[in-house]
Amino acid sequence: MAVETKVSREDEFRQAEHEIYPPSPEVVAQANVKDYDAVVKQAREDLAGFWAERASELEWFAPWDKVLDESNKPFYKWFTNAKVNIVYNALDRHMKTWRKNKVALIWEGEKGEQRTFSYFRLWQEVNKFANILKSMGVHKGDRVTIYMGRVPELPMAMLACAKVGAIHSVVYGGFSVEALHTRIMDSESKLVITCDGGFMNGKIVELKKIADEAIQRSPTVENVIVVKRTGHEVNMEAGRDLWLHDLMNLPIASTKCETEVMDAEDPLYLLYTSGTTGTPKAILHTHGGYMVGIHTTLKWVFDLKDEDRWWCAADPGWVTGHSYIVYGPLLCGATSFMYEGAPTFPYPNRWWSLVEKYGITVLYTAPTAIRGLMRFGEAWPNRHDLSSLRLLGSVGEPINPEAWKWYHRVIGKKRCPIMDTWWQTETGMFMITPLPVVPLKPGSGTFPFPGVEAEILNEEGTPVGPDEEGFLVLTRPWPAMLRTIYKDPDRFVRQYWTKYPGKYMTGDSARRDADGYFWIIGRVDDVIKVSGYRLGTAEIESALVSHHTVAEAAAIGLPHEIKGTAIYTYVILRQGSVPSEELAAELRQHVGHELGPIARPEKIEFVTKLPKTRSGKIMRRVLKARAQGLPEGDLSTLEE
Ligand code: WTA
Repeated sequence: MAVETKVSREDEFRQAEHEIYPPSPEVVAQANVKDYDAVVKQAREDLAGFWAERASELEWFAPWDKVLDESNKPFYKWFTNAKVNIVYNALDRHMKTWRKNKVALIWEGEKGEQRTFSYFRLWQEVNKFANILKSMGVHKGDRVTIYMGRVPELPMAMLACAKVGAIHSVVYGGFSVEALHTRIMDSESKLVITCDGGFMNGKIVELKKIADEAIQRSPTVENVIVVKRTGHEVNMEAGRDLWLHDLMNLPIASTKCETEVMDAEDPLYLLYTSGTTGTPKAILHTHGGYMVGIHTTLKWVFDLKDEDRWWCAADPGWVTGHSYIVYGPLLCGATSFMYEGAPTFPYPNRWWSLVEKYGITVLYTAPTAIRGLMRFGEAWPNRHDLSSLRLLGSVGEPINPEAWKWYHRVIGKKRCPIMDTWWQTETGMFMITPLPVVPLKPGSGTFPFPGVEAEILNEEGTPVGPDEEGFLVLTRPWPAMLRTIYKDPDRFVRQYWTKYPGKYMTGDSARRDADGYFWIIGRVDDVIKVSGYRLGTAEIESALVSHHTVAEAAAIGLPHEIKGTAIYTYVILRQGSVPSEELAAELRQHVGHELGPIARPEKIEFVTKLPKTRSGKIMRRVLKARAQGLPEGDLSTLEE
């Protein structure tokens, strides 16, 4: 089992503090932002003016009264009373320029099929889809759950919802019945959009079957729209389920559709994410500020130009996909590429062959993917011409310097700077990240984006010194910030704004080195980042406890060579059940069925007791220390 000691990773990061990769003259010459210090200074001195300038690059139906309204903190408002729709800027706006004929989206399926959409074609398809939604009674403010594989209809569905003012809630296609069910219920969606299935690793993911199981117990759902992808037989419930291709052929699906005029602060989407305790919470993002934040960050950090071919290799079901596969690139008028399947299917060179085939210029992915591909050696990427690449990116978890250097040398041929972007579902946009002109250190996200201010605090709320670890907080509002937790404003205040009043608590620990570079260490709460995917210990534990043999369970994250963090679980069985290898396998399978394959524990250990505080809380810190053979720390509250 790949349990590294915490120390070796830490040493690797510490050494990298002294390695600097300055930008090359070519990179500086073409950068959208050349004078980094000037924009940082401008934003620091005049935050509202800075963001107003950025907002002016996009089109508004009616202007704002105020850029930032801080009268009801922490419920900040941006661009108050402005009228806008993100889809107007992502699609409609381009119909007035030459970009109408530009390629918006290139897609390749796992089996090699290709589809290409110009901005005009994508606009038409979204209009048709939006008209269908309207005819089905989906209106402004209604919630729609989208549960699909990585196919072009997924961004289309999201854009169609936003166009009519409905609120989409995308559930990652790798999630399973229970995860989908709770998200449909919490959002009270009246419509679910799904696929008959999806292709992943040469196998079919039975999306419709999983959706059926989840919807069966979800009374708010009136209709299900099904996209045909695999063509294999699925159950279609009469009166409830409709094929998208049938609907698209109806006269109602006209290629013209007025874009709904929204208030800048109207909700755009909900995205469920794991938090400290309990059930996943719905992060709420809005049309106006979010649009300004992701347009600016994508254009500045990844330096997007009309000639670029952008590939964000995330899944649209996570925030990275929302901001930087769907909305961001379209707002920038960019050409982006989307790939359906697994990076190693059928061979470990699939991604590199795609870079070559489509002439990808900017690639944005996660450390876990890099480490996973690194394992197969350099020969696979070296078989391909990767010279089109000019910038690389990383997101989701800390990238260890060794993986950073491999990515830099083998994929970027030492020419491509790596933008290590730290951000969250909640922040909506990149927060701590270099711009191409910033000198890099392998494994550091460098500095906060212009206008963003971050601090590292100790338990009492005092800033820690250089090289000391502490809690990462954000001290100034930013336009793409979450506005609340849907239906639970108290939890929003409690979770993010209470520990250090007036400051946004990220849930991460970090340190700054002597040069002021930020180094993210990891989550300090009960969130586990498995291969960059965000899961909560509570979800995993309740999936385990829902099995008839399990009395109690605890889940922790432990360092893992490829996944970054892997899930370890400790299970107390009910009386009458006996530990065995078979039962462990069955429990892993059970968690996979309930939540999804990514949540399947790496290891299940049967125990007879768990370390708890006197008030009955499981001390995961102690489990973690024990598993790694590290000191257990302060045990004064331990009840054993
Ligand atoms: C982690 C993903 C280090 C961090 C966009 C954060 C990172 C959580 C980085 C949010 C990075 C994300 N370096 N850690 N570049 N990017 N993280 O909501 O722990 O899925 O709090 O958003 O991922 O995960 P989420």
